[in-house]
Parts: sequence; structure tokens; C-alpha cells
Amino acid sequence: MKICVVGAGYVGLVAALSFAKYKNDVICVDKDIKKVKQLNKGIPTIYEEGLEPLLNKCLKKKYILFTNNINKAINLSDVIMIAVGTPTKPDWSVDISQVVDASIEISKGINKYKVIIIKSTVPVGTHEIVENIVLKNGVDIKDFDVVSNPEFLREGRALNDFLHGDRMVIGCKSKKAQKVMDELYRPFKTKIINTNPPTAELIKYASNALLATKISFINEMANLCSKVNANIDTLSYGLGLDSRISPEFLRAGIGYGGSCFPKDTKALVNIGEKYGCEFNIVRSTIKVNENQRLKPVEILLDHYNKIEGKTISLLGLTFKPGTDDIRDAPSLFIIDELLQMGASIRCYDPMVSEEIKSLFPNITYCDSIEDTVRDSYCTIICTELDEFFKMDLESIAKKMKKPMLIDGRNMIDIGEARKSGFSYYYSIGNGSFGNKK
Ligand code: UDX
Repeated sequence: MKICVVGAGYVGLVAALSFAKYKNDVICVDKDIKKVKQLNKGIPTIYEEGLEPLLNKCLKKKYILFTNNINKAINLSDVIMIAVGTPTKPDWSVDISQVVDASIEISKGINKYKVIIIKSTVPVGTHEIVENIVLKNGVDIKDFDVVSNPEFLREGRALNDFLHGDRMVIGCKSKKAQKVMDELYRPFKTKIINTNPPTAELIKYASNALLATKISFINEMANLCSKVNANIDTLSYGLGLDSRISPEFLRAGIGYGGSCFPKDTKALVNIGEKYGCEFNIVRSTIKVNENQRLKPVEILLDHYNKIEGKTISLLGLTFKPGTDDIRDAPSLFIIDELLQMGASIRCYDPMVSEEIKSLFPNITYCDSIEDTVRDSYCTIICTELDEFFKMDLESIAKKMKKPMLIDGRNMIDIGEARKSGFSYYYSIGNGSFGNKK
């Protein structure tokens, strides 16, 4: 099949390579010529497991090509997938301007029947907006169909999720387009859900909002556990064994970040408002997360009367392991708050690029855990990177000015922390020790 993917961002690149893997002819379009050149050379623009070898294999076999010539790419393709960004505006509404721009460009290139797939996460009703744009630009209704086909990729496992996800949701109005979609996803080993476009558009938001809600719920339980000497890990295990609940997304910590949960929960509240639906549960999920990501600052303030002039070290900056992405990571909110209070910040994250580091010139980046914690009044674990499991706690405690550890991802065993010489330890619902100084 001849496929054009518009947008070589996270979702677009993963989708394009997944189709190329199954020997389709894929043209991936992006406005950013630097990105296009880099990808054509086989150098990935994002870190994602398995991406680099697949990119090089597909380039070599000529199953994929990157270009900034959208018109030609559309002309040559049977299927056009829109995978551009849909950021949230400050009022929580979704900015679909890139989808609109792409739709205008697509209309100009339609020379025969094409299926236009919306892969970007978009508010319910966007398929109609796209359809109307294409019609307004003079394309006959018989020459195209618009299909809603959201993605459910997790960063770090994106390729695997695209190829072997739990489900593929297809929101389609016409039999002709349905046949093309059946053909497109035939090689994928995944359960297909065929529905109408509004349902497909909503499944994506519902899924992310419910997962985020599980996290906020378990974090509230963890905060209670901290007060009553209960153990959140055991509680989560006990909860998760109930097959109606499932053990997933019950890991307590300093909250969720990333490119989807913060954005999509807000968008769902905003979409609901437009239709007179309150979404109080999702509003609370957002509020709980906003508080939870600042939990370490609350604990610090409880412990030290003044943060000003103190060095605080942070281990991990990314919103989760296995990615170099720091979008909406809890660490960013902690850094911001601590800087405002006059603290000095040292941090360590081997995944974060020099380019990202340059965006935060007011903090010191270190090359090792031991260097990071030197002379600090507290170490905060923000991301559960593998190497933090194995770190030498005794040596870390010795290097610190005050051996205080806030374990924002419940990685360190409380007994180990005590044995290693820490005088204060706080986890998110898994026990703590040490007195206010
Ligand atoms: C998420 C969804 O899982 C995916 O389906 C969707 O398409 C995009 O958003 P992603 O953002 O890559 O994927 O990460 P995910 O692994 O879901 O974690 C999101 C955040 O929740 C991370 O900050 C993670 O640390 C946090 N989290 C996750 C918890 O705090 N506890 C958990 O139990 C699970």
C-alpha cells in the first residue's frame, strides 16, 4: 500500500516505520528540513528502543522516504495519515491548528480516491472539521473518506505498542474506507475495534484519563499510608489481584508527567464543558497530580525551616525511565519551586540531551550520582532509572551535607536506607524515618 504520514514526530515516525516494516511504500512528510535530512541519513530524531535499526533497515530496502514535499507525497499515496501535534492551550482547549493546516495541504494534493486517517489525538468532532475543510477546498465527497484511528503508544515501548498493542480503534463511516483500513492493519497482531468516528475519538481521551485517575487515586492512598504506617506496595498488590481492577497503573510516586496524561486529562475536561458535562473525577485527578508532584518540596519544608542557600540534588529528570522526554515531568515542577525558594540544584540524568540541559541554565548537571549528591541537604529520586536501584547508598550518605533521602519513586528499601547511614528517609507510602531538625 502507498502511505503518506504527515508529521515525523513521535507518533508519526513510529507509525511510518511500523507500516514500512510490513513492506508498504511509506513517505513521511515533515516541514522541518533538518529533521527530514537527519532521518534520511538513518539518524533517529527521538530516543526509542528499536527505532534506529528499523529506520536503517527500511531506508536500505527503500520502504520509507522522508520529505518536506507534501503535495507530491499525497499525490503518490492511497492512504494519508495525519500525525501532527495537538497541544493544549492555557485554557485547556486543544489547539488543532496543525491538523487544520495539514487538511488544507492534503486537499490540494488529492488526485484520486484517498483515505485520510486522523492519528493525532483530537477532540470529538474533529473528523467532521477535517471532512468539511477538504470539501470546502473543492474535493468531491466521492474522492475521500476521513477515518479516526487514535494511537495508544507508550514512550519507550512505542514500536511494540504500535505493532502489537492491546487494540486498534478504527472510527469509520464508509464501507470503502473500512476495506482500506482492514487491508492496512491486516498484518498487525492486534484486536481491531470498528466503531464510528466520535467513539474512536473519545476512546483515546477516556483511556488516558482513566489511567491517570488510577495513578492519582493510588497516590492519595499512599499519602494516607504515610500517616498511618501502612504500606502502599502491599496495598497496591492486594488491590491489583482483583481482576476487575488489574495491577497496572497502581504504582505510587510523585505523579504522572509526559506528553499525554497532563494534556489529555485537561483536554477532556475542556471538551466535556463544551457539552455541559462536568468531569469532576478528572478535575480531581489533575488537582491531585499537581499536588503530588510537589510532595518532595512539602516534605523538605516540613524538615528544614528554610531552603534558601541549601543545595538539593535530584536523581532523574525524565517523566519516566526508557525515554529522554522531560515534557511535564514532575522534576521540572520541583526544580521550579526550589529555585524560587533560593535553593541550589544539582542533578543527574544520563538520558537528557545537551540541548534540553541548555534550556535550564540555572541548575548544575553532573555526570555521576556521587558527584550530584556532594554537599547536598537532600537527595530526591524523581525517576526510577535502573542505576538508582544499584547505587551505593552508604557512599552517597557520606558525601551529603545532611543524609536526607526523598524517594519519589519508592525504589529504595527503608531498611537499606537506615543501614546506609541516612538520618532521614521519606517514601511515597512505603515508610519513613527521621525527625524534624
Ligand atoms: C501514556 C499512555 O500509557 C499511552 O497509552 C498513551 O498513548 C500516551 O500516554 P506514556 O506517557 O508514554 O504513555 O507513559 P506511561 O508509561 O503511561 O506513564 C505515564 C506517567 O505515569 C509517567 O510519568 C509514569 O511515571 C506515571 N505512572 C505510571 C505512575 O506514576 N504510576 C504508574 O503506576 C504508572
